[in-house]
Amino acid sequence: MKQKLLVFCLLVSLRMHAQELNLIPKPYRTEIMDGNFTLSAETKIFLASDAEEKSARFINDYLQKFYGFHLQIVKKNNTATQQNILVFSKTNMENPVQGAYTLTINRNMAVIGSADPSGWFYGVQTLIQLFPFEKKTKFTLPCLEIEDRPRFAYRGMHLDVGRHFFPVDFIKKYIDFIAMYKMNTFHWHLTEDQGWRIEIKKYPRLTEVGAYRNGTIIGHHPGTGNDDTRYGGFYTQEQIREIVKYAADRYITVIPEIELPGHASAAIAAYPELSCFPEEATRKAKNVVWSGDSTGKQVQQSWGVYPDVFCPSDYTFHFLENVLDEVMALFPSKYIHIGGDECPKDNWKRSAFCQQLIQSKNLKDEHGLQSYFIQRIEKYLNSKGRNIIGWDEILEGGLAPNATVMSWRGEKGGIEAAKQKHQVIMTPGGWVYFDHSQTKHEDSVVIGGYTPIQKVYGYEPVPSEMSEEDARYVLGAQANVWTEYMKYPSKVEYMIFPRMSALSEVLWTEKTHKDWSDFSRRLTNEFKRYDWWGVRSSKAYFDPVNQ
Ligand code: ACM
Repeated sequence: MKQKLLVFCLLVSLRMHAQELNLIPKPYRTEIMDGNFTLSAETKIFLASDAEEKSARFINDYLQKFYGFHLQIVKKNNTATQQNILVFSKTNMENPVQGAYTLTINRNMAVIGSADPSGWFYGVQTLIQLFPFEKKTKFTLPCLEIEDRPRFAYRGMHLDVGRHFFPVDFIKKYIDFIAMYKMNTFHWHLTEDQGWRIEIKKYPRLTEVGAYRNGTIIGHHPGTGNDDTRYGGFYTQEQIREIVKYAADRYITVIPEIELPGHASAAIAAYPELSCFPEEATRKAKNVVWSGDSTGKQVQQSWGVYPDVFCPSDYTFHFLENVLDEVMALFPSKYIHIGGDECPKDNWKRSAFCQQLIQSKNLKDEHGLQSYFIQRIEKYLNSKGRNIIGWDEILEGGLAPNATVMSWRGEKGGIEAAKQKHQVIMTPGGWVYFDHSQTKHEDSVVIGGYTPIQKVYGYEPVPSEMSEEDARYVLGAQANVWTEYMKYPSKVEYMIFPRMSALSEVLWTEKTHKDWSDFSRRLTNEFKRYDWWGVRSSKAYFDPVNQ
């Protein structure tokens, strides 16, 4: 009797163990069945059409990288008599949200069904999360049925490559992280006061001059000195094409950001006529120790907001249109991000040209001039079939007619934009700024703020005060990764993990299916995944004061 009880208990515990899947983000519905499917080099992938090939290739690359084997790909429709196969199937979904998929695993086969190719890809992401953290050439997967779909259409991660520059290999790694968590947008912040990072053939000085600074402050702004080391880099157009394709192969859209009219010091250093005061030397922030030449226009060496911004002249608009022409040729995204944040009005106030423009265009003030600037750029991009996204400052002085607003100074901008029937992407600082500290005991330099993973997990992209009608304008949300204090890829990884895992569940999982205690159980396993991938992560979650 005792023995029977022991066997029973063992079976129950094995079953319970099998039921504890560690999928992040949590799928819409999961049912675990008895039995297993064994995946090995003998398993074949069945493709019904070329459309599934990207997902098949992804799974093979993953298997090869982590387990040292891959699967034979067979183009075939009839799976009836086959065993030991992984099948991609075109399925009519009950709820045809883009990216919805089903994953069915029985003893003979694993089947990923979807009505659209991104669904197959997300099914693959779920499947590979079931693989072991151990290099094996044969392993079992539990029999199960998963039905899954994303909550939000826009699921993004941003990366600032202006303050610090990251090599192409890391950008690809970052895109892989985005893919693993079923996100679909990489917002690439390419231009800043401290460096212009995109090759523009018509304006070679943007990268010859604008991509480099003569030094960088040491420590937290204004710093304790300067490292006196020339720093910089940029992406060639060929590299950008390679990255855009790499992302597209993972169903990720890259949205480039070309900042205007503020954060323009690097562009102005390259082409001083872009400033309202081309003859004036660049103003440095107070108490910053400067390295090298400080005459004329310079690329900034510390962080913050600077008053030398684009002058709204014909020269500038002609320049920006030419730049944007090359940007559009590289990035097929529907949206181009034009920045619009943190543009001091000091220079426009003291510029006779700007004051005259305000009068002749019958604008209210410098905020009206900012709105004129953004609207003129929007008109140009709209004429080329593209739409703009701007930070929430673009609300000031009047929103451009077709603009999407990225709400970063809290949720207010997003709420107001939705009221005005504009699309909104939520990126409020208090919840999804991954440059904030995730512990009260941070021992590296960070910008400030305190955003532990619990806060990220608890974020709700649709503010409670929004009406149901306005809520329809919320496309989704995104985490922003400003890199003033992230000099190396390892620091970026440390800042995004594990918070990115929490964000994925905010964006993908039904609100009513979210549960912190269940997530934190899966998170313990996720730390093993970070190790398995070979990525850094913050262990602040284990710090008792952060629990
Ligand atoms: C921002 O963080 N300045 C958009």
